Amino acid sequence: ASSTEVDVSAIQPGQAIKAVFRKQPLFVRRLTPAEISAAEAVATSSLRDPQTLEERTKEGHKDMLITMGVCTHLGCVPLGAAEGEVKGEFGGYFCPCHGSHYDTAGRIRKGPAPKNLEVPEYEFTSDTVIQVG
Ligand code: FES
Repeated sequence: ASSTEVDVSAIQPGQAIKAVFRKQPLFVRRLTPAEISAAEAVATSSLRDPQTLEERTKEGHKDMLITMGVCTHLGCVPLGAAEGEVKGEFGGYFCPCHGSHYDTAGRIRKGPAPKNLEVPEYEFTSDTVIQVG
């Protein structure tokens, strides 16, 4: 299986980039302090797919959200990773196919998708480079 390296050093808080992992879109996003606070303010038990931001990020890097860019409903590519795209009602990602809204931790909050955006296996190989897969 192939892995993908992504240099995250140029991603500013509030920005995301799209990469490709195993022929599927991968979203790499640096959260702002406000986006981190918004994710941490949610009562996890109220979530459809209960996970904390901490569980979805790496220790010491909770500002870096790495998810597949594949809606867990029927596989469309959500909006919100590219400049100017709508991010939905919860400020994360929005899938226009059937209206799934994901929050700033990539967790499903509204709409038909059953699960949070998948966090792939990855690790930081330095402070600024991640290796996915
Ligand atoms: Fe995303 Fe249906 S594929 S809401």
